[in-house]
Amino acid sequence: WRTKVPVPKQLLEPLDLPSVHLFGPGPANPSLRTYNAHAMPLLGHLHPEFCKVMDETKAGLKYVFQTNNAYTLAITGSGHAAMEAAIMNLVERGERILVCVNGLWGNRARDIAERQGCDVQAIEKPPGEYHTYGEIEQGLKDYKPSVLFLVHSESSSGICQPLDGIGALCHRYNCLIIVDTVASLGGTPFFTDDWDLDCVYTGSQKCLGAPPGISPITFSPRAIAKVNSREFKVPSFYLDIKELGNYWGCDEGPRRYQHTGAVSLVYALRESLAQIAEEGLENSWKRHHNTIEHLWAGLEEMGLRMFVKDKAMRLPTVTSIRIPEGFPDWKAVPTYLMKKHKIELVGGLGPTLGKVWRVGFMGHNSSLENVDKFLRLFKEALEAVKNRPKSQI
Ligand code: GLV
Repeated sequence: WRTKVPVPKQLLEPLDLPSVHLFGPGPANPSLRTYNAHAMPLLGHLHPEFCKVMDETKAGLKYVFQTNNAYTLAITGSGHAAMEAAIMNLVERGERILVCVNGLWGNRARDIAERQGCDVQAIEKPPGEYHTYGEIEQGLKDYKPSVLFLVHSESSSGICQPLDGIGALCHRYNCLIIVDTVASLGGTPFFTDDWDLDCVYTGSQKCLGAPPGISPITFSPRAIAKVNSREFKVPSFYLDIKELGNYWGCDEGPRRYQHTGAVSLVYALRESLAQIAEEGLENSWKRHHNTIEHLWAGLEEMGLRMFVKDKAMRLPTVTSIRIPEGFPDWKAVPTYLMKKHKIELVGGLGPTLGKVWRVGFMGHNSSLENVDKFLRLFKEALEAVKNRPKSQI
């Protein structure tokens, strides 16, 4: 045989990667224990030993979601796959979904629902503001949706959406509720069952402290009843929660091959959850809150302002720092930090682009030492950018 495309020379070089402090909105650095778990011997995706790991992972997910939902599992895919799955399973083509939009993630959900052929309505708030109970009730009255979509952790602005009472409110209007917690679950108090939520999903790579590529999700019995009464099959086999639930051992039946699960990522997630279990979820919540308050105090001392004014409404995971008026070149600050100190800091996203820098301390990264390090070097970066010509950064 003779190949037509030559051997790629780059692949004959060793894999060369910097070690970076991931202090942006995610992914966050996993712990060494999680990395080591990821490298453990591969098993088949239906081997009994792996099924046991999946069961242990499910127990850990029920703990972090604070739910007894049988259909609690992790989708092989990023948080976007979980967003697609939540909407696709609970809203049929032509059915109405009401999306609460106050940043990039609400907008993304609206786009995904439109692509899936749903009848999409939205209530919009400016970025940095949350949706009040009264506004949500008005939306339910006006639009009579089958499903409401809310973002708990709008990482594009740093706002945390209050949820207490919203689930019961939706149910009074005969509506299910989906909640996105990609940038918050594990980092702040969250109660899926007590708050009467029907579908909640998150990412592995933020407060849970695992690598990206696998996304925890949970469906309430009410949500599963809706799936069972669908007129048409879920359009994606891969994201069908009943199929996924069978593979993850959430139903009575013997596990069937649905897809080849991300075996190594499940090991990593299992070990990340084990570390949260050992620490205690309440302690994880406290640690994230203490860390971020230390950050806010340090930033305020430097004369900086947060994008979300009210501390009580800020995420304790991802913070948006307002770029001071007249600051010469905001992009040079993340560039400086990465080049000089291998620290990730990122700009705004969607509606906050050019207005803020975003910094996150999540999972294993959430510590006072990391904040101190960041504050010292961020200050240095701001001074450097203010005082030096652009060409030298
Ligand atoms: C990603 O989740 C981000 O907020 O940038």
